Amino acid sequence: MQIIRTVGALRAIVRDWRAAGESVALVPTMGALHAGHMALVAAARLRADHVVASIFVNPTQFGPNEDLVAYPRREAADAAMLDTGGVDVLWAPDVGAMYPDGYASNLSVAGVSETLCGAARPGHFDGVATVVAKLLNQVQPDVALFGEKDWQQLAVIRRMVADMDFAVEVISVPTQREDDGLALSSRNAYLDDEQRAAARAMPRALGEAAAAIARGDEVAGVLAAAERRLIDAGFASVDYVALSDAESLVPVAVVGDRPMRLLAAARLGTTRLIDNVAVVVV
Ligand code: PAJ
Repeated sequence: MQIIRTVGALRAIVRDWRAAGESVALVPTMGALHAGHMALVAAARLRADHVVASIFVNPTQFGPNEDLVAYPRREAADAAMLDTGGVDVLWAPDVGAMYPDGYASNLSVAGVSETLCGAARPGHFDGVATVVAKLLNQVQPDVALFGEKDWQQLAVIRRMVADMDFAVEVISVPTQREDDGLALSSRNAYLDDEQRAAARAMPRALGEAAAAIARGDEVAGVLAAAERRLIDAGFASVDYVALSDAESLVPVAVVGDRPMRLLAAARLGTTRLIDNVAVVVV
């Protein structure tokens, strides 16, 4: 695996692959890799001849009081995992390569960016959309892979790719979980033992609420019960538990025909956890 730090070197490698008629997959990450990220890499390998994984802790998607400085950085261990996982190129630019002096542009996706995590983290999805647009332009992959763990991020990126005519197929990969159901996340490392034990209430509350909605229970009551359950389990606060249209993320008050997603964000101490599940009415 080659580790590349300049756009010029990256483009030269991709150009050679293209000249040979070979396809390219991109897996964007912020590092501190775990089995969730590696599931994206495995799916990427099935979809393309070559896999580029990026590691870039993108400052523009962190709010002023968020964990940009504390965000775990361990490139050597990440590189070893990606190499073992069959990645061809690790694209690891520094902040100056991504946002050189004079950088002035921003991409904003209205609607789907503004609700849920977008309401709690102003500017976050502008930062995500902008950096993913840059990564797509830098690598120009045939396919790009994103995890369902970050469902709203996935919806924002799908919207942006459609709106901006990016010639890339967006592929989503199901959320990878610990044995007790907790979604794998780089931020789980912030949890102490007690918080880690409480965290399992998140997938349980979502699973039970999804089942209740699927069997026809009244939506508002189910969401309120799920929120209470998180607080009872030890979560300090709940940003939201919401039933949303799976694509637009517009709230769903009464179950209809369109695909739905049940999403939650809540804090354990200062750590903000998110998760989501499908709601399938049979
Ligand atoms: P990061 O949090 O590192 O996640 C990188 C990718 O891994 C995202 O597509 C995310 O949804 C996926 N992922 C994380 N945990 C997962 C899990 N448990 N199961 C399946 N997939 C999982 O998301 C970002 O980085 C950034 O916002 C990024 C898109 C790279 C832009 O900076």
